Amino acid sequence: PLVAVVLAGGTGTRLYPATRSDRPKQFQPFGGERSMLAETVRRANFADEVYVLTRPAFAESVREHAPSAAVLTEPAPRDTGPALVYAAHRIREQVGECVLCCLPSDHRVDGDFQATVETACAVAARTGSLVTIGIEPTRAETGYGYVEPGADHGEYYEVESFTEKPDAETAQRYVESGYLWNSGTFAWTPTDFLAAASETELRSLVEALEAGNPERGFEDCPSISVDYAVLESAENVAVVPASYEWDDLGSWDAFERLLDADGEGNVALGEALAIDASDNVFASDGHVAAVGVEDLVIASFDDRTLVLPKSESQRVREVVERLRKEG
Ligand code: GDD
Ligand code: MG
Repeated sequence: PLVAVVLAGGTGTRLYPATRSDRPKQFQPFGGERSMLAETVRRANFADEVYVLTRPAFAESVREHAPSAAVLTEPAPRDTGPALVYAAHRIREQVGECVLCCLPSDHRVDGDFQATVETACAVAARTGSLVTIGIEPTRAETGYGYVEPGADHGEYYEVESFTEKPDAETAQRYVESGYLWNSGTFAWTPTDFLAAASETELRSLVEALEAGNPERGFEDCPSISVDYAVLESAENVAVVPASYEWDDLGSWDAFERLLDADGEGNVALGEALAIDASDNVFASDGHVAAVGVEDLVIASFDDRTLVLPKSESQRVREVVERLRKEG
């Protein structure tokens, strides 16, 4: 069987202040009709079974936004590496050997998503590889992972190397050298994935799960994404190029690709008034007015406001870290 695992345990830090720890991005629509999570679960309807994987604190909201899916809760929030190890282990127990298709819940896709995903799942089943769906890059984005394609097998390429979130210079070099973006949409069998994870710092978690002790395993395990933990070091990674349009609503600059701009290149989520202002991203639950500024993000939700150059959109992370530290 083909089992979809929808990832919905992140907080969407880089969309602060629209996102807060109790209001993560997957439960918000961001200009769409339904929440990002509801959209993703609907997109997963080709699978035989759909699980939503989340942290304990979000389980209730997941049930509200995705009533048709089964909810799987990792014992503690430790990022996507441990969460996906947990999912592979639990789903293999519950449904037996299968192909897992992992879908992040912060993507907008347009086109024949299902065809590419089915190819990725078939390649995973046939070759035993960890398969990622690759996207043709259109800019030197530092917020994504990059895969270097190797031997061409028609439907897929072997992956020579995988680099998560490179610096701007390296990203530029990768784009020029024909690397693909890692879309974060993966296909693998539980057994192949757990074997790869056992070769990494997640080994003791795999062992704790096999010994029937998930709480203990999560207590001791590092917080790390699957990209850094497993894909950067695994040897059997393959990439299937996507035949659909794709975007990750990861940071505020993504909205200029998503929303229609006014004549001056400004986009607005919510109401905004721009005078002699160009190429800005405005987002608010109220009203934003801006005069004489360009290339900024101005985001205001509740009693919180964020202003930064659009090109620094990844750095919202630093704001959230500081606020967390200062309580
Ligand atoms: N269950 C669970 N637990 N899910 C989580 C957790 C967690 O602790 N942390 C994050 N997630 C979910 C998020 O809700 C999101 O749907 C998905 O996992 C991916 O997390 P992001 O935080 O959005 O990752 P990213 O966008 O920075 O990077 C990943 O996706 C990029 C493409 O969108 C990586 O895979 C990159 O390599 C990739 O390019
Ligand atoms: Mg993302």
